[in-house]
Amino acid sequence: MIRLGIIFGGRSGEHEVSLMSSTSAIKAIDKSKFDIVMIGITKDGRWKLFEGEPDDVENGKWESLSEEIKISDLKGLIDFAFPILHGTYGEDGTIQGLFEMLDIPYSGCGVLASACAMDKIVAKNLFDKAGILGSDYISTTEESFKNEDVDRICAALSFPVFVKPANMGSSIGIVKVARKEELEEAILEAFKYDSRVIIEKGINARELEVGVIGNHKLILSEVGEIVPSAEYYDYTAKYFDGGKSRMIVPAQIKPETREKALELAAASYRALDCAGFARCDFLLDKETEDVYINEINTIPGLTKFSMFPILFQEAGVPYGTLIERIVEFGYERYYSKNNRKAN
Ligand SMILES: Nc1ncnc2c1ncn2[C@@H]1O[C@H](COP(=O)(O)OP(=O)(O)O)[C@@H](O)[C@H]1O
Ligand SMILES: [Mg+2]
Repeated sequence: MIRLGIIFGGRSGEHEVSLMSSTSAIKAIDKSKFDIVMIGITKDGRWKLFEGEPDDVENGKWESLSEEIKISDLKGLIDFAFPILHGTYGEDGTIQGLFEMLDIPYSGCGVLASACAMDKIVAKNLFDKAGILGSDYISTTEESFKNEDVDRICAALSFPVFVKPANMGSSIGIVKVARKEELEEAILEAFKYDSRVIIEKGINARELEVGVIGNHKLILSEVGEIVPSAEYYDYTAKYFDGGKSRMIVPAQIKPETREKALELAAASYRALDCAGFARCDFLLDKETEDVYINEINTIPGLTKFSMFPILFQEAGVPYGTLIERIVEFGYERYYSKNNRKAN
C-alpha cells in the first residue's frame, strides 16, 4: 500500500487553515487504498510525526502528541508526499524543491509553477505574455521606491488601485487605495511583507473561481462565485466573518461567461506550467463582462467547505476521488520526469 504523507501546518501565516484542510483530507482519503502518514510542521519549522486522531490535527493537539523527526527521515517514512500547506515554505516551491532533492514523488505543482504562482509580479508577466487578460499593473521595489514618488504609478493607473506585496496570500498586506494621497502609505505597508510590491488597477468585479486538475489533459471543475462579506475579499472576510462571505456554486453567470472562465482557467494553468491541481481565480468586470485572471492558488483550501472541493463535487468528482486523482497525477509526473534521458 502507498504510504501517503500528508504534510500539514507549516511556517506561514496560514498554518491554521492548513490544519483544517489536512483534517478534511485525512478523513476523506480511502484507507483501503492509502496508508496515511501524518507529518506536521510547527510554526517554528520543526517536523513531527503524528500517529494519533485526525481531529487532533485540526485542534492543534498533535503538536504535543508527536515525535520530532529529521527531514532526511522523510524518504524512509513515506512513498508519496501530499503537502497541504498554504503560503510561504509550502506553496511557493521551496518544499517542492525539497521533495525533488529527496526523490519523493509529490502532489501538485512543481518548483517553477509554485514559485511563479506565488509571485504576483512574475505571474502577471507570464499571463500577459500568454495573452491572458489581467488588470493593468505596475511594480516597484523597496530600493527603487526610495528614489521615486507616486507620480509614475498615478500616471500609469487610475484609481482605485490595489497595492499588494508580491509574495503573500490570504489578502495579507493588501490595501485598496482610492486616492493618490493614500498610495505611499499603502506601498510602505506592503513593503513590511515583501521587498517587491505590485500595484493593480482595481476592477469593479464579481469574483469567479475554477478548479483544475491534471498534467497534460486537464479536467475542469464547475465555475463558482465568491461573494465577500466586505468591500473586497480581505483577510477577515476570508476567515473570520462567521461564514458571511458566500460561495455560489455554480456561479449564476451567462453561459458564454462560464465558457470564457473555463477556457481561461486552462490557459492560465498552462501559462504557469501548473501540474496536478490548482485553483484559478478571476475577476468578472460588472460593467463590461470581461473576465480577468487574478491569480492561481497552487494549494487551494481543501477543507470540506472550501471552494475547490465543492467545485469538483459539482462537476461530479467527490472529495475522495479528487485526492486519488491528484496522487495519480503526481506519480505520472514523477515517472515521466525520471524516465527522460537527461536524468
Ligand atoms: N485588481 C483588483 N481589482 C479588484 N479587486 C481586487 C483586485 N486585486 C485584488 N482584489 C481583491 O482583493 C482580494 C485579494 O487579492 P488577491 O490578489 O487574490 O490576493 P491573495 O493572494 O491574498 O488572495 C481579491 O479576492 C479581491 O477581492
Ligand atoms: Mg486571492
